[in-house]
Amino acid sequence: MFDNSFIYKRHSVRKFKDTKVPMEHIEEIIKAGSFAPSGKNMQNWHFVVINNKELIEKIAKTVEEKNKAIADKILDENVKEKFTKGIRYQLAFKNAPTVILVYTGKYIPTGYNELKLAGAPQEELEALLATASGVQGVSAAIENIMLTSANMGYGTCWITGPVYAAKEISETIGFKKEGYSLMALTPLGVPLDAEVKSPPRKPVEEIMTVIE
Ligand SMILES: Cc1cc2nc3c(=O)[nH]c(=O)nc-3n(C[C@H](O)[C@H](O)[C@H](O)COP(=O)(O)O)c2cc1C
Repeated sequence: MFDNSFIYKRHSVRKFKDTKVPMEHIEEIIKAGSFAPSGKNMQNWHFVVINNKELIEKIAKTVEEKNKAIADKILDENVKEKFTKGIRYQLAFKNAPTVILVYTGKYIPTGYNELKLAGAPQEELEALLATASGVQGVSAAIENIMLTSANMGYGTCWITGPVYAAKEISETIGFKKEGYSLMALTPLGVPLDAEVKSPPRKPVEEIMTVIE
């Protein structure tokens, strides 16, 4: 009845062929991202596209170095080992021909300033900030990017693992935009494997509550 098959084409892809992604495809993908909804239509996103394999390697190296620097300061061996081993997932972008870094601009939620002026308790202000409305819009853009990419035959993977090295990554690529910070990145390329599977999902009855 409804054709929602495009939704199910998206999977997290972590291995890629060397095939370059043409710029016109990348532009179409970013354009699709920009058609996501955003609070107050702020469009508080910025996408940095890296097509340079050497620079992608440098980003990976930057993350590895920061991972090591943090791990070296951790005394608990279990925590240290888990963090060090997690690098595999933090670097899942490494062998892609293109990486898109997603930056989010500051966004003040509706009612925040007013609640503050009205003398609301800190707890209430923090709870409102925790809803991260600014990040919600940028997340919608990321999902648009991923669904469009999958529909065009490309693989992506939403990656936030390396964001602890946000400052260093931005320095490595030489990107700075006032008020914007790195929130995620995704590799983009032709998947290496013909078939990629996603982990199973919780059944709808478990994740949905209907109140009549
Ligand atoms: C906010 C967010 C952060 C994620 N961070 C990572 C990451 O750092 N590394 C990684 O390999 N996958 C990461 N993923 C991908 C998830 O592991 C993946 O979406 C999940 O296992 C479901 O699989 P699927 O995307 O194939 O449906 C992230 C996904 C989201 C939404």
